[in-house]
Amino acid sequence: MSGHVYVTRLLTDDAMVALERLDVPLVVGEERPPTREELLRDAAGAVGIVCTLTDRIDADVLYAAGGQLRAVANVAVGYDNIDVEAARARGVVVTNTPGVLDDATADLTMGLVLAAARRIAEGDRFLRRAEPWIWGPRMMTGLDLSAGATLGIVGFGRIGRAVARRARGFGMRLLATPTSSPVPDDDAAGVTFADLDTVLAESDVVTLHCPLTEQTRHLIDDTALGRMRPTALLVNTARGPVVDTDAVVRALQEGRIAGAALDVFEDEPAVDPRLLELEQVVVTPHLGSAGGATRSAMCGLAVRNLTEVLAGRSPLTPV
Ligand code: GLV
Repeated sequence: MSGHVYVTRLLTDDAMVALERLDVPLVVGEERPPTREELLRDAAGAVGIVCTLTDRIDADVLYAAGGQLRAVANVAVGYDNIDVEAARARGVVVTNTPGVLDDATADLTMGLVLAAARRIAEGDRFLRRAEPWIWGPRMMTGLDLSAGATLGIVGFGRIGRAVARRARGFGMRLLATPTSSPVPDDDAAGVTFADLDTVLAESDVVTLHCPLTEQTRHLIDDTALGRMRPTALLVNTARGPVVDTDAVVRALQEGRIAGAALDVFEDEPAVDPRLLELEQVVVTPHLGSAGGATRSAMCGLAVRNLTEVLAGRSPLTPV
């Protein structure tokens, strides 16, 4: 087979070892994302590309790669960074990494739910300012998850369902938007399915688990935020553009929602500075899948997908 495999960024050690075992020349990027010029240059002549969610694989990159390109293996479950239609038109197989990061992302989600509800990050910042304090009955009270708080899950796919499993353990009432794929009975147990407007209106915490598509871009806009309770919290571990940042900043500044915990942002890695000025906002740098074993599993699955396609077989997880 002529052509190289282009790995846009250094993957986990075990995945790099698996790649080196492939009988194909490798062009490997660095730990940082490639610049656009580097991406176009190093994709040229590739038979396969292993990329991450920070790499925009659009029609120009696919064209620059050339007609021998067979697979684009994304190290992420979300694949909004790839022009899947353009790839299909060129006969290029696109794969993602579903199923291996549900628990890690759900764990982080519950961490953010707790951080926002019980003001953990705010308390940490408070102590670091070395302000005088003493325990008091009215001090920094927050939302009790276990007193029947309602969690509204927008997107009841694998990750949404993993969040529901955890939230049940906290005694939360569960509301979710319906999904087109079948939901196992165990996962549906105790969940009330309702349309988005109802989920927004009746939840104490709204957590987002839908993919970013043209339909979900700015799903949480002024109107959606206007349906939420002034005491409600918004959690986003999905994709930044699912939320209209301007609208959420305004809603927070005006007290139309009570707080937000955000792991993803509209224009990553930029974080809107207005969010950072708000005590009722918790932010983390896109850590949803950042468990060590999870990242190994993601990188490993991407490499296996690529290997299968290059060997003329079906990938494990095509999109
Ligand atoms: C991470 O954000 C992913 O889509 O896997």
